[in-house]
Amino acid sequence: MVLREKEVLVREIHHRVKNNLQIISSLLNLQASCVKDKAALEILRESQNRVRAMAIVHEQLHRARDYSRIDLPEYVASLTTNLLRSYGVEAKVVTVKLDVEPVALTIDTAISCGLIIHELVSNCLKHAFPGGRKGQINILLHGEPGGFRLSVRDNGVGFSDTASGGRRRSLGLRLVNILAEQIDGVVRRKHNKRGTECVVRFRETRQKEAA
Ligand SMILES: Nc1ncnc2c1ncn2[C@@H]1O[C@H](COP(=O)(O)OP(=O)(O)OP(=O)(O)O)[C@@H](O)[C@H]1O
Ligand SMILES: [Mg+2]
Repeated sequence: MVLREKEVLVREIHHRVKNNLQIISSLLNLQASCVKDKAALEILRESQNRVRAMAIVHEQLHRARDYSRIDLPEYVASLTTNLLRSYGVEAKVVTVKLDVEPVALTIDTAISCGLIIHELVSNCLKHAFPGGRKGQINILLHGEPGGFRLSVRDNGVGFSDTASGGRRRSLGLRLVNILAEQIDGVVRRKHNKRGTECVVRFRETRQKEAA
């Protein structure tokens, strides 16, 4: 009975968090409708996508049986489907190949990891395949001794020389570094004319394991 009550409570919490995130997303949507400037509109849409990436975790937890762990393959699949839809990219133009091991991550780690994937995949969709160029994005996530290895790779145009020293201070790659720090991660980036790869090695921090 007590356990049952707890389950109901946890389910309710995830439901509420998800609803609150949806409210934030709707607010951003409302604000977007008052904005004419293209660049500002894009920024609002990106924020909406980031909030959506967090909401997906709670959506999954709401549905799952085990509320403390997240089903990684399903989570990453929903994240990427959502992004393809949001960027209006057809699955036959840019194919996404997933190789995600069903490792159990705590919710905190899963959220950081999900947001990292979100930023990297958004970048592939935004920058790697200009002008309807065809291509592929590979997302790998595996356990390795002492932690996990995440790789997001595309076979697109690669970084231009001016990419990161930019016209405006971009947020995405800075976010990736901050989020990686939160999960004790090390970020490594490779890019050439045949595409881009970003590898993040991370682990569950001790504090989170104790929680
Ligand atoms: N997969 C990629 N392929 C080609 N260029 C990329 C890729 N990822 C990033 N870049 C380049 O690196 C720059 C920095 O990326 P970053 O994510 O920090 O910013 P952004 O995507 O332009 O904006 P945002 O703040 O919305 O993420 C991009 O503007 C782009 O020129
Ligand atoms: Mg970006």
